[in-house]
Amino acid sequence: MAGSTDLLSAAPIPAGPPLWLLAELTYQCPLHCVFCYNPTRHAQVTDELTTAQWVDVMTQARNLGAAQLGFSGGEPLLRDDLEELVQEAHRLGYYTNLITSGVGLTPVRAQKLKDAGLDHVQLSFQDSTRELNDFLSHTRTFDLKQRVAKLIKAHDWPMVMNCVLHRHNLPHVRKIIDMAVALEAEYLELANTQYYGWAWVNRDHLMPTREELAVAEAEVNAFRAEQDAKTEGHKTRVLFVVPDYFEERPKACMNGWGAVFLSIAPDGLAMPCHNARDLPGLQLPNVKDVSVADIWQRSNAFNTYRGDAWMKPTCRSCDERHKDFGGCRCQAFLLTGDAAETDPVCSKSAHHEKVVAVVRDAPRRRNIPIVFRSDAESKALHEPPRSAPAAVAAPQGGAFTASGGRAP
Ligand code: FES
Repeated sequence: MAGSTDLLSAAPIPAGPPLWLLAELTYQCPLHCVFCYNPTRHAQVTDELTTAQWVDVMTQARNLGAAQLGFSGGEPLLRDDLEELVQEAHRLGYYTNLITSGVGLTPVRAQKLKDAGLDHVQLSFQDSTRELNDFLSHTRTFDLKQRVAKLIKAHDWPMVMNCVLHRHNLPHVRKIIDMAVALEAEYLELANTQYYGWAWVNRDHLMPTREELAVAEAEVNAFRAEQDAKTEGHKTRVLFVVPDYFEERPKACMNGWGAVFLSIAPDGLAMPCHNARDLPGLQLPNVKDVSVADIWQRSNAFNTYRGDAWMKPTCRSCDERHKDFGGCRCQAFLLTGDAAETDPVCSKSAHHEKVVAVVRDAPRRRNIPIVFRSDAESKALHEPPRSAPAAVAAPQGGAFTASGGRAP
């Protein structure tokens, strides 16, 4: 495959292999989650890679040393070639992981995926209650997800249950844990909302208070202590992903830019993180034009924030820079307008007060509609002029009704 020289760096920084390949097979999704991390411009992405192109990408990445392969989306089960791709990935020697809402995982497809060699499934829930699960996704999927969880266990897959946390479901944390235990999940990932994509749009509606977080974390710790004391029977391990906005130091986003993580978007755009599409000035290469080896090792996009030479003085002089790599480039851009800034989550950042202000001011800025992810909203956000939405106040507190936001 020929390289596209204008996308390639004259002085690339040496990198290890892209251990973790994420194949975002499609941005299409039957759900409309208000915190979806997909880019809000997803409706503009229609030119999906073909089966043969995905197989080529998987083969090239495997040759570079990629070991784990996540099939994600959108909803990857919307691709009817998923079984074929899993089979090929298995043949190539990947450990394969399906990241799904559960919609489309029928008994027939589950068996085909099992036969194809799928190793692992991550199933998302929005809440432990039908009301909130279905409201936040704007679908009636709670019962379906329960059935799919049982199907996953019946096929003897290790199951991670994933639930994105925010102020509406934080009070339900113990019930969410109990649901995961009842469904025999091996792991429950309680991922506090990270504010990108649609979660950025709905940030004020989703932002909890510090007190709400502390109560939820105490419940998680109490459950962990119960599990540690247990001497027999099924154990569910709970991962509690701390929300950045309440920290004093940033997370090591992607384990460092261009360090181990390679994401391929549905249209073939190669990205060092899920949200890089929204970073201005970054010329992202496409697997249709550039080999995966050149993308990973030589592209400007993957070298821009690799290592520490790009860092501004605050990060470059910090002895924690090899621990957090300056934090998240997308968060830095969203909060400061400059992706090369120190992540403002860090208390050493000159912009840290912006993070503090977002948390502090969120409760009084909720008199705007919640925006459900949809093609129509994606177009409205990115194809101006946007007509002003009818101002429908989202419900306060945790009691949602089906009319509490602007429907897709
Ligand atoms: Fe893009 Fe963190 S999400 S660098």
